[in-house]
Amino acid sequence: MDKLKVMTIFGTRPEAIKMAPLVKELESRPEFESLCCVTAQHRQMLDSVLDIFRLKPQFDLDIMEQSQTLSTITSKCLLGLEKVFQEVRPDLVLVHGDTSTTFAGALAAFYQQIAVGHVEAGLRTGDKYSPFPEEMNRSMVSRLAELHFCPTKANRRNLEAEGISKGLFVTGNTVIDALQTTVVKDFTFAEDVLNSLDYQGRRVILVTCHRRENYGQPMEDIMSALAHVARAHPEAELVYPVHLSPVVQGCAHRHLDGIENIHLIAPLDVEEMHNLMARSYLVMTDSGGLQEEAPALGKPVLVLRRETERPEAVEAGTVKLAGVDRDEIIRLADQLLDDPAAYREMAHAVNPYGDGKACRRIADGILYQFGRTDRMPEPFNS
Ligand code: UD1
Ligand code: UDP
Repeated sequence: MDKLKVMTIFGTRPEAIKMAPLVKELESRPEFESLCCVTAQHRQMLDSVLDIFRLKPQFDLDIMEQSQTLSTITSKCLLGLEKVFQEVRPDLVLVHGDTSTTFAGALAAFYQQIAVGHVEAGLRTGDKYSPFPEEMNRSMVSRLAELHFCPTKANRRNLEAEGISKGLFVTGNTVIDALQTTVVKDFTFAEDVLNSLDYQGRRVILVTCHRRENYGQPMEDIMSALAHVARAHPEAELVYPVHLSPVVQGCAHRHLDGIENIHLIAPLDVEEMHNLMARSYLVMTDSGGLQEEAPALGKPVLVLRRETERPEAVEAGTVKLAGVDRDEIIRLADQLLDDPAAYREMAHAVNPYGDGKACRRIADGILYQFGRTDRMPEPFNS
């Protein structure tokens, strides 16, 4: 029987981190011919992931430009992918999550009548503008896809509630697969400042912030809250690898430069990030991926957003939705820094997002869907 030609498409840092273990899984199976196309919606932040996981994409659209708009990203991806699909006609295109690359990848495949598999399907806030534009990107891909790889049962239920009943698999999130390969005991960081931090004696707070719906006043208020927390807690060290977006860079440096216990550093590669998180006291973030990783490492998270499409860890009690109000963020951070009981209540390891076997289930799910096996993968028990 011919091999199944599966093309994986991604463009940003989080997609690459979460697709890398899947590409490896597909490459290791004789039933697949695995091809990889990157849009490079992110350039440096993508390349760092490709290096770490030693991935060599066959196609690179190299679309990134400074301060790019959503329309530029989508149109450049659509045009570039059309050519790629005409050159190689995959049996299946796999896209991940909710970025502009994801949506354009699914749409470009649909225009060529190529089947689409959606990895990390079914997450929803129900609010069209939050996360923006991700909520609609993810929802639109659900209309276009034939296969839906849902991390959790709740994600599957979201799709069923929208009338999607075929091609659904509950697999766990591939980020937990990635996490199992990156965190090690005696890790040496490339940044001296990270090696010299006293992780036992000081309260290391890991911070990230980049979402488009937080641009403007919400981001100003978040940064102002972080400055206050650092000044009020000289026993804490805030480590903030700043996203390369010029909007984020400008806002972070304006508020946080010159505060002694705040370390604004360049984006970390994924191994550094996971190992730093494993050594931190607390995570404050608006990132989706960090909300999934930190619970697995037993680290409390304050989410710097109004809502989350990842409610599982909130329900498990290790993640709190802090919102974007300056005073509320300060109040919640104070509580975790000052009240050991409140901290202990949140600092336990839970794994609602995966068990490290998501990629295996996705590969098995593809074979099942294409009639290459009659054994459906066991669902992840979330
Ligand atoms: C994108 C995704 C978002 C995801 C985030 C992860 C969309 C609409 N948004 O948002 O869902 O959470 O990635 O980080 O797809 N830049 C560089 N070098 C890089 C990466 C970015 O210089 O390696 C700068 C560029 O000026 C670029 C800007 O950052 O224009 C913003 O990047 P973009 O991909 O447009 O949006 P993100 O905010 O990163
Ligand atoms: N990450 C990283 N270096 C950083 C910041 C984040 O490797 O400096 C990783 C993080 O561990 C997670 C992913 O990038 O796996 C999340 O990406 P991001 O926050 O950019 O996007 P989101 O998850 O919000 O879409």
